[in-house]
Amino acid sequence: MSGSALGIGLVGTGFMGRAHAIALRSVGGVFDEVTPPRLIHVVDADAERASTAAASMGFARHGDDWRALLDDPDVDAVSLCTPNHLHHEMALAALAAGKHVWCEKPLAHTADEAAELAAAATASGRAHLVGFNYAVNPLLSLAREIIQSGELGEPVSFSGRYLEDYMADPQVPWSWRCERSLAGSGALADLGCHLLHLMDWLLGPVSEVMGALSTVVSHRRDPASGARRAVENEDIASAHCRLASGVPAVIETSRVASGYKCGLAFDLSCSRGALRFDQERMNELQVYESAAGRGREGFRRILAGPAHPDYAAFNPAAGHGLGYNDLKVIEARNFLRAATNGTRAWPDFNDGLRVQRVMDAIERSAGEARWVRVHQD
Ligand SMILES: NC(=O)c1ccc[n+]([C@@H]2O[C@H](COP(=O)([O-])OP(=O)(O)OC[C@H]3O[C@@H](n4cnc5c(N)ncnc54)[C@H](O)[C@@H]3O)[C@@H](O)[C@H]2O)c1
Repeated sequence: MSGSALGIGLVGTGFMGRAHAIALRSVGGVFDEVTPPRLIHVVDADAERASTAAASMGFARHGDDWRALLDDPDVDAVSLCTPNHLHHEMALAALAAGKHVWCEKPLAHTADEAAELAAAATASGRAHLVGFNYAVNPLLSLAREIIQSGELGEPVSFSGRYLEDYMADPQVPWSWRCERSLAGSGALADLGCHLLHLMDWLLGPVSEVMGALSTVVSHRRDPASGARRAVENEDIASAHCRLASGVPAVIETSRVASGYKCGLAFDLSCSRGALRFDQERMNELQVYESAAGRGREGFRRILAGPAHPDYAAFNPAAGHGLGYNDLKVIEARNFLRAATNGTRAWPDFNDGLRVQRVMDAIERSAGEARWVRVHQD
């Protein structure tokens, strides 16, 4: 253990609030390098939810006012787990209050908002991290190492998907994820941002996109009023991308892809081999080496194990496997380590900004039916 225990404030106690709280409670027990944080203050717009969460998650104080949480002198670092439209305002205010910020994805609604946040975060000297949790999978560090070593030759093409079916049933009610002012884009902001981050991290930035968006279910029942309400953003987004390296890529994301539960997957072809990954089998990386020779070719399955970064902290045996919540524990370690040591957290707000620029370009391209350049610094 190193450093003093950081005081945590958590805003939003839904799906992600719970995932952050589980990770924050576990992280000190998994990673010796991190001092277990103190869970100080939890807030939800729904005061009853905040009270229940404080009891079950172990926070000392609770309330329904996130600004009061930022005024709490015992809070050193905040987890922002609220709907997308609140990230910009809350993260800016948290940085201004001198807090370290762990913000859920997508970082913001637009590239302009994301740029403002990235600049404020960099100037603050505080740790800042965006919840692109899939990329911290130990096997994806291995994938990146294999790509960068050149052992499979040069990358030739990338095909990536992030498919889920949580809104495939037209009877699934309307939620904040269907409204542009609350969610931003649809499948792209909710799922596609993870895929774009992964592609950026593995292969470098995108320079140009040709996007397409479509909405399959145009109206859904509002659970509050019972009335039919328009879905304002896309169910499916796809794009052809040209990477700055010259590698062509095709990406697709959908929230109405029947049968897929967490289908974040990619195929990378290289000049002397290939890589294949699927988050629904997150403890396996498939590697194809052309050098195996004629008649001996085939994808080889590598199972996650203690030889891969961070795995050994969870257990010493290969093939026993990590889960989604373990990725959040790794993310919590990345955040707390950076907040304690003053080092860079990863993935940070600058990563979130690059992803946001690509998402904006895909939306613009789809609207204007043409290739759009992505301007990265
Ligand atoms: N990294 C991932 O894998 C992942 C997965 C799911 C969601 N997310 C992201 O996490 C964020 C939250 O999503 P979720 O699925 O947890 O949503 P959710 O609807 O389950 O929970 C959101 C919570 O925020 C609360 N809230 C709303 N406005 C608030 C306010 N002004 N002050 C305090 N609390 C407020 C709501 O009452 C609710 O409890 C979103 O940005 C989403 O994109 C990330």
